[in-house]
Amino acid sequence: MSDKDKYEANPDRYTNTVGYNFCGKSGLQLPQISLGLWHNFGDVDDKNEALKMLKYAFDHGITHFDLANNYGAPYGSAEKNFGKMLKEHFSSYRDELVISSKAGHDMWQGPYGNGGSRKYLMASLDQSLKRMKLDYVDIFYSHRYDPETPVEETMGALSDMVKQGKALYVGISKYPEDKAREAYRILRKNGTPCLIYQGRYSILSRDIEYEVLPLAKEEGVGFIAFSPLAQGLLSDKYLNGIPENSRAAHSYGFLKKEQITSELVERLKKLNEIAAGRGQTLAQMALAWCFHQQQVNSVIVGTSSVKQLQDNLDALKNIDFTDDELWRIGELG
Ligand SMILES: NC(=O)c1ccc[n+]([C@@H]2O[C@H](COP(=O)([O-])OP(=O)(O)OC[C@H]3O[C@@H](n4cnc5c(N)ncnc54)[C@H](OP(=O)(O)O)[C@@H]3O)[C@@H](O)[C@H]2O)c1
Repeated sequence: MSDKDKYEANPDRYTNTVGYNFCGKSGLQLPQISLGLWHNFGDVDDKNEALKMLKYAFDHGITHFDLANNYGAPYGSAEKNFGKMLKEHFSSYRDELVISSKAGHDMWQGPYGNGGSRKYLMASLDQSLKRMKLDYVDIFYSHRYDPETPVEETMGALSDMVKQGKALYVGISKYPEDKAREAYRILRKNGTPCLIYQGRYSILSRDIEYEVLPLAKEEGVGFIAFSPLAQGLLSDKYLNGIPENSRAAHSYGFLKKEQITSELVERLKKLNEIAAGRGQTLAQMALAWCFHQQQVNSVIVGTSSVKQLQDNLDALKNIDFTDDELWRIGELG
């Protein structure tokens, strides 16, 4: 790479759109919007656009990038591609980045490539570090609760990752409330308190409001929302059919055409009208809405283009809602 091609990040990256919140009771601040690499960064995706999104994100104050061992497709390819881009373009900015990874879901064949065992988690983190060409991740998550493995074993593995210097902080994702409580207790006892809970949260998915959020508050654990756009449903893209090249149109994605029922589309149209009344797109309103819960420290969006990322950052221009708006949105969720 010639000097001419060298990426020099925007010197004003911390003075524009994005604000930062302390993650729970920790000293770590997260950007209001984080970028997730579940889709759109795999070998099946456009790598030029992926690099442009990373640069655009960083240039606009997004410091947190969320990955997992099996992001792609195929599994591992998002970490591999991210690692290559990091090395080539972001190596001088490592200390400005919060990079997370996870293990817990299906990754490789056999009994040690899925679940919550120490055997799986330890091996998986080593593989993730290798793919991303990193010495450590900032946050490592147990990706899901595994009923076959004692919580003590899974948390013991997380604590040891911190002690080995391979992860700075640890978190849990999608744990039911009682198991989250157990995990927080064990991690605290081990001297490696839980930094963060990662949970699904959007206008269409509010379960965490009842138990998970109150518990995180009680314990001083941060909260980061995933799929805040319900994988793109909470945008205007599916209001008139399923566009080519959308997540629902792909054979390899997790959003299935059958999920887009006419009843759902009717509700999305009404939500779109509320958004228009606020001078926002539906995607912008859906992201802004997550912050009506003060405990939401950050939302992780996925984007398939720089244009989407740009639109999503504009959501932060108006994150205030009237009681009437919140009520009407609640009725349609
Ligand atoms: N812990 C867990 O178990 C878990 C589970 C799921 C996700 N996550 C994390 O959360 C991240 C985000 O999840 P997600 O990708 O489902 O998030 P999402 O933000 O709900 O959905 C992303 C999709 O929405 C569409 N989109 C985004 N911005 C748009 C805009 N302005 N206008 C129109 N469409 C827009 C794009 O779809 P198209 O591709 O159709 O353009 C994009 O791929 C993941 O990358 C991952 O890091 C974690």
